[in-house]
Amino acid sequence: MEKCLIAAIADDYALGKDNNLLWHLSEDLKYFKRLTSGHPVIMGRKTYESIGRPLPKRLNIVLTRKAQTPDQVGGMAGSTGNLLYASTLEEAFALAASTPFEGRVDEPDQCFVMGGGSIYEQALPLCDKLFLTEVHTTRPDADTFFPAFDRSLYRELSRSELYAENHLTYHFVIYGR
Ligand SMILES: NC(=O)c1ccc[n+]([C@@H]2O[C@H](COP(=O)([O-])OP(=O)(O)OC[C@H]3O[C@@H](n4cnc5c(N)ncnc54)[C@H](OP(=O)(O)O)[C@@H]3O)[C@@H](O)[C@H]2O)c1
Repeated sequence: MEKCLIAAIADDYALGKDNNLLWHLSEDLKYFKRLTSGHPVIMGRKTYESIGRPLPKRLNIVLTRKAQTPDQVGGMAGSTGNLLYASTLEEAFALAASTPFEGRVDEPDQCFVMGGGSIYEQALPLCDKLFLTEVHTTRPDADTFFPAFDRSLYRELSRSELYAENHLTYHFVIYGR
């Protein structure tokens, strides 16, 4: 399974503030939905709480070190039956590779690490491909940032046209190892 990371980051790597996103970009939300639907998504507990529900048409794997009830750990839970908890990143990737769910798409066989900051930091060295929405702004008031990374380790595989929305411009960029 290809391990992918998907994030929308500002030029100063800002990601979020007060457990929320910094912008509302409808084309980015559509892009995120199109890429991740049918695939497992891995997120931190805070990001999950900020969304407030499992994302439909995806297997939602939530990382937490807090004890979960036995039926939730590595098992199906949640009203839509597409929510799992994992206590390590390794376990999350193993569940992503092995757990069947309705609507699963195996071609391409991918899972997506979808934040937040602490999960990106840990998962970045393990991911094969980065889907970054590069938002051309700086947000020094943010409280969560994408980790600094060595761009020379990556190849730019594609860069979209420039999008403009809500007084912001952005590119969809895909990086490979
Ligand atoms: N711009 C974007 O693309 C984007 C995407 C996603 C999120 N965000 C933003 O990022 C912010 C949230 O990021 P964050 O760093 O504060 O929180 P987070 O990464 O979403 O969640 C952190 C929590 O994940 C759990 N965790 C972390 N590492 C773990 C590990 N190795 N094993 C098990 N559990 C682990 C812990 O949960 P417990 O405390 O329960 O143990 C930890 O408190 C929000 O502002 C959100 O809007 C932005």
